[in-house]
Amino acid sequence: MWLRLVNRKSTFLVCILQVNTGDLYGFLRLPNRDANSFIYMLILSGATYLCRKSIPGMRSVKMLNLHAQYLGLKDEIDAAIATVLERTDFIGGQDVIEFEKELAAYHGATHAVTCANGTDAIQIALMAMDLPPGSEVITPAFSYAAIAEMCHLIGLKPVYCDVDPHKYLMNLEDAEKRITSKTRVLAPVHLFGQNAHMESILALAQKHNLYVLEDNAQAIGAVYTFADGKKAKSGSMGHVSTTSFFPSKNLGCYGDGGAIITSDEKLAKRCKMIANHGQSVKYHHEVIGMNSRLDTLQAAILRVKLRKLDGFASERLAAAKYYDRELGAIPQIQIPVRAKNSTHVFHQYCMVLETPKLRGGLQEYLKNRGIPSMIYYPLPLYKQEAYRQDISLPVTEHLCDRIMALPMGTDMETEQLEYITSNIKNYLSTLT
Ligand SMILES: Cc1ncc(COP(=O)(O)O)c(C=O)c1O
Repeated sequence: MWLRLVNRKSTFLVCILQVNTGDLYGFLRLPNRDANSFIYMLILSGATYLCRKSIPGMRSVKMLNLHAQYLGLKDEIDAAIATVLERTDFIGGQDVIEFEKELAAYHGATHAVTCANGTDAIQIALMAMDLPPGSEVITPAFSYAAIAEMCHLIGLKPVYCDVDPHKYLMNLEDAEKRITSKTRVLAPVHLFGQNAHMESILALAQKHNLYVLEDNAQAIGAVYTFADGKKAKSGSMGHVSTTSFFPSKNLGCYGDGGAIITSDEKLAKRCKMIANHGQSVKYHHEVIGMNSRLDTLQAAILRVKLRKLDGFASERLAAAKYYDRELGAIPQIQIPVRAKNSTHVFHQYCMVLETPKLRGGLQEYLKNRGIPSMIYYPLPLYKQEAYRQDISLPVTEHLCDRIMALPMGTDMETEQLEYITSNIKNYLSTLT
C-alpha cells in the first residue's frame, strides 16, 4: 500500500491511495496542516478497510514473469552461482567450458562458441566467413535489427526480403528474386519461436553457393522435420547459427550472453579466435577480432536453465494453446499459424489484428485493465532511420501495422490467461 502525491499546494495535499499497481482505492484531498498526521495515521492503522475495494476482477499481469521462473529454480541457480563465487573463475571458467559442450550437444552440433550477446554472435559469425566488402546478406525486413546493424557495421549490405503473412517467416520466393552476383549469405530468422523453411533455404543456398546463417535468438529448442523425416534442432542446419541469452529469451541468463553454433571446423576456429581478440595463442593476434565473452556466472546459470529448456517450451506451448482455443474463432484476429515442418517454442505469441485502429484500441483497453502487450516490430528495417532503403514489402508493412504480442512465459496461470482472453473478447464485443 502506498500514497501517491498528486499535488501539494500550500494549503492542500491531494493524494491517491493505492494497493498494488493498478488498484485505485481513494482520492484524498486534505488540508495541508492535517496531511502529515493523516498519512502517519493511515500507515499505522494499515487502512485495511480500504484495501478491499479494488476494481472487480482486476489483476496484475506481466508480459513475462521472470521472477516466478527464478523462484522455481532458486535452489539450483543459487547453488550454481555460489560455486562460481567460491571458485572465482569469473572469466573463461569451468562453467563456460562445460556449457559450450552441453550447448553444442543439445543442438547435435560439434561446436558452440559463447560470446557477450546475440548481436556480437551475428557479427562474429559474419566476420568468420571472411566475405568481400559489399557482399550481400539476404534477410527478412520483418525482424529485430541485429543482422541489419551488424552488416552495416562490418561493410556488408543487408538485402531485405518479405515474409509469410501467417507465420511471419522468410518468404523464399521473394528471397530468391533478390539474389545477385554479390549475394553471399542467406540469413533467415526463426522468428517468435519456429523454424523458417530450412529445407528450401538450404536447397536455395546450395544452388547459389551461399552461406546460411540462422538467427536463432528466438527459437532455441524448436525442432525441424525434413521431408525424409529427419529431425534437427533450430540452429543446427545452416553453416552457422547464432543465439541470444538476453534474460527474456527462452534460454535467458541474468544479464547479457550469446553463442554461435556450428559443425564447420574452420568456422568454429575462426569464431573462437574473433571472439577473443583474434588470437588463439595469447598475445598473438592472427585476425582482427573483438572482446566478446560470456562470463562464468552467466554460464553457470545457463547450465541450470538448459536442462529445463524443453520443459519451458512445453509450458509456453500450453499457454499458446489456450490463446489459440479462446481467440482462434474471432474474425478480427489472426492467431499465429504453425509451420508444418517445425515445432513452436513460442518465444512470443503474436497475433494480427484486422486493422491498425483495432490494434491501437485493444492495446489501450488491455493496458487500462493491467494487461501489457507489445508490438514486434513496429517498423520494417528498411524504414528505420539508420538502415533506410527505398523499397516496399507489402506483407512486412501489413504486419508492422497490425501485429501484437500477448503476455507469454513459463509460469502463466490459467486465471491470467482467462483474464487476458476474456478482456480481448469484451473489447471486441463493445465494437459490434
Ligand atoms: C531475432 C534476434 N536476433 C538477434 C538479437 C540480438 O540479441 P542480443 O540482444 O543478445 O544482442 C535478438 C534480441 O532481441 C533477436 O530477437
